[in-house]
Amino acid sequence: MHCIKKITDDLIWVGANDRRLAMFEGVYSVPGGVSYNSYLLLDEKTVLFDTVDKAVSRRFLENVSFALDGRRLDYLILQHMEPDHSAALEELLLRYPDVKVVCNAKTMTLLNQFFDLDVDAVIVKEGDTLNTGRHTLNFVMAPMVHWPEVMVTYDSTDKILFSADAFGTFGALNGALFADEVDFNADYMNEARRYYTNIVGKYGTQVVSLLGKAATLDIQMICPLHGFVWRERFSDIISKYLLWGNYQPEENGVMIAYASVYGNTENAAEILSSMLRSKGIKTVMFDVSVTHASEIIAASFRWSHLVFASTTYNAGIFVSMEEVINDLVAHNIQNRHVAIIENGSWAATSGGLIREKLSKCKNINILEQCVSIKSGLKDAQVADLEAMAEVIAADVAALDEAGSGTDDGGLGVAADASNVDPKAMFKFSYGLFVLTAKDGDKDNGCIINTAIQITATPNRISIAVNKANFTHDMIVKTGLFNISILSTSAPFRIFEQFGFHSGSDTDKFADSAYDERSANGLRYVPEHVNCMISGKVVDSYDYGTHTLFIADVTEAIVLSNEASVTYQYYFENIKPKPVPPGEDKKGFVCKICGYVYEGDSLPEDFICPLCKHGAVDFEPL
Ligand code: FEO
Repeated sequence: MHCIKKITDDLIWVGANDRRLAMFEGVYSVPGGVSYNSYLLLDEKTVLFDTVDKAVSRRFLENVSFALDGRRLDYLILQHMEPDHSAALEELLLRYPDVKVVCNAKTMTLLNQFFDLDVDAVIVKEGDTLNTGRHTLNFVMAPMVHWPEVMVTYDSTDKILFSADAFGTFGALNGALFADEVDFNADYMNEARRYYTNIVGKYGTQVVSLLGKAATLDIQMICPLHGFVWRERFSDIISKYLLWGNYQPEENGVMIAYASVYGNTENAAEILSSMLRSKGIKTVMFDVSVTHASEIIAASFRWSHLVFASTTYNAGIFVSMEEVINDLVAHNIQNRHVAIIENGSWAATSGGLIREKLSKCKNINILEQCVSIKSGLKDAQVADLEAMAEVIAADVAALDEAGSGTDDGGLGVAADASNVDPKAMFKFSYGLFVLTAKDGDKDNGCIINTAIQITATPNRISIAVNKANFTHDMIVKTGLFNISILSTSAPFRIFEQFGFHSGSDTDKFADSAYDERSANGLRYVPEHVNCMISGKVVDSYDYGTHTLFIADVTEAIVLSNEASVTYQYYFENIKPKPVPPGEDKKGFVCKICGYVYEGDSLPEDFICPLCKHGAVDFEPL
């Protein structure tokens, strides 16, 4: 009996789930099952995107037949030839002999290797399109994500990306189809990580390349070959792919993997973990003989610091630990801090061998001091473990301080705070803008300094907004905003009107002599500005104190030819100079708005009550 799911008016999921499979690709356990997705587009021409694994081919063929409802099948697009997506090809061609296969040249080579079929395919390459009536399908090559022939398809009509293996996850769909129908972060992100890191993890460069291509597209939906369809909150998965593809950790903390025959190496690992916890460092632990290597690979991509504790076995690394280490090297692990504990009753070699293997990986910083145990940890060696814990804890704290890890989704190698002069940030040529929003009958506005155009096609901008601003919450709720670009004639009163108090308890427009609104119904500032731009939010990213909103431009009006205000112009020509204090007065003045904090020292976490800038923007009176 068919079991299909409607995605849009003319797009249907015709895939199937498999919960009986023990090991995906013969290697990875899938206790939650796996879905093999296939999609049928019912345009003037009918188009099927990929097939499925042989284990579920019967259900798939029933689905295709039912969804076609008697229509002929015109095209089969083969995006990926791995048999979990192509195994039903032969049976499909027997049932639909007139279907035209669409694929690239590399796919054709693999098709002829896997099958003895006489297929007369339409061969496509990067940038080629296929018009099926209302829809235009654009082919984008994605080699090594995760085989060399892989391509993805962008439907520029409905703005859907058919992403092949990218953005997939282990786990059957269990009746849902869209990621927003489930608690993806809580229930599926671990499996998405395990899927990515083990299946595609080796090919981070190629994944980042594909993400770069995808960033130029207006994407409203992502349809992968495994797991859920994404139609909102794309940043949940894309932010992870950016980290994973760049081999950057998601969290600052320590993954400890140990191999222990009689519990003595485990004992040392437990003590180290306990010491780290006492220092406030997050830890996770795995026994490599119990936990499958794929779990440990996934955890190694997640955490910033890795500790490997292994007994010596047959003069080498313990077997299950060696498998994990080899797997990590094969999956191209990079940018991690590593510490090693070895054990050996008469000739400990495991530590040196682990070091040798991991040294082949890029930017792996291995702690020089290995803790070496002979049979069991002795009192005298507790200090060695404590020293290891100290170094790791300080290192993790430094990463936290530098802001890498989960919160910033940082893509670079961890920053060294001592190398960052805060004054350098003022060399950016910021503009100044009145950001306005509306929630119900309430209008509000604030001053921001970060608004830029990202792309011209589509016309898309970004703004960064401090969460302490009331306007921020309005934009989160409504998804709409205007920016009025201030020009050089702007008087200080505009900055006072919008910048130095909260709209939560005042009406910032109460004394305005104007009431101009844009087509979206929001107010804008018509005087002392040279332009008004309306934005409709299409995505947002949480960066701790601020949210970065990405928005389509829905309206833009030029209001004057005056030059835009820059930060420097504001400081030199608009902001009033602070009144000199009395001789004995001590304090700090906000360089942004002139607010004076009286006292001998300024708390590091002080936030200006007027303009919401931090202590770094204050200078002594
Ligand atoms: Fe789901 Fe690379 O196959």
